[in-house]
Amino acid sequence: MTRARFARTIATMSRRPFVGGNWKMNTDLATGVALAQAIDSRWNQSQDAVDVVLFPPFPYLQAVGRAMSGGVVSLGAQDLSSEANGALTGEVSAEMLTDVGVTWVLVGHSERRHKLCEPNSVVADKFAMAIESGLSVVLCVGETQAERSAGQANHVVGRQLKSAFERVSPESLAKIVIAYEPVWAIGTGVVATPHDAEEAHQEIRGFIGSRYDPELAAGIRIVYGGSLAPGHAKTLFSVPGVDGGLVGGASLQANDFLSICSSAMIGIVAG
Ligand code: PGA
Repeated sequence: MTRARFARTIATMSRRPFVGGNWKMNTDLATGVALAQAIDSRWNQSQDAVDVVLFPPFPYLQAVGRAMSGGVVSLGAQDLSSEANGALTGEVSAEMLTDVGVTWVLVGHSERRHKLCEPNSVVADKFAMAIESGLSVVLCVGETQAERSAGQANHVVGRQLKSAFERVSPESLAKIVIAYEPVWAIGTGVVATPHDAEEAHQEIRGFIGSRYDPELAAGIRIVYGGSLAPGHAKTLFSVPGVDGGLVGGASLQANDFLSICSSAMIGIVAG
């Protein structure tokens, strides 16, 4: 497929927008349940054109899942073990997650990569385990400020992708969302410019195109994460190739999160 034809295919491809709320190590049981109920009841009244997923802390998964109606908002976990079971104190397996109603999982979040020292190889093992277990997965990738300043951003993200997708079959791509989350934008209030986001998303889609094929690349959802807030979500979601977002801080306020979810509706054909 020529470059021009590829660009046209992407432009006409309909990718369902995705918005995830990553609560990180926040909320308590009561506030988590109340937040989930508020989001679930109000989003269910809206149209079901966006995949909305909440990622509460492990101990609250079951209660949050019960607080939701089982409608259009899904339940996700922030991490999983790369192993199926066994003597691994503190770990949580994919089977345990599905057992309590989890259907999505985050893998390779930058806080796990950088603060908890998870290398690409561990991320790849977790990614493989999540896929094998039938979970839908958000794979997070992104460069640090130092890597960007050194002109290494594409190289770093490329290495993260190469390692993660090494063992992934083309059939699994439908259950995968890639989150481009530049580390310098996470929790900092600094948002990537539309130009930076467009360029990074193009690189990522280009990687999937060469690893698999251009049609599969045109179909995979790539979302942006890093200081997303109601004030600029619409701008970022209208960037070509940005199919929604992964939201941290702003996902802890129902109004802010719902506003971001509504903004994603404009990106129904983000191309
Ligand atoms: P933030 O976090 O929106 O608070 O920057 C995003 C993320 O870490 O997924």
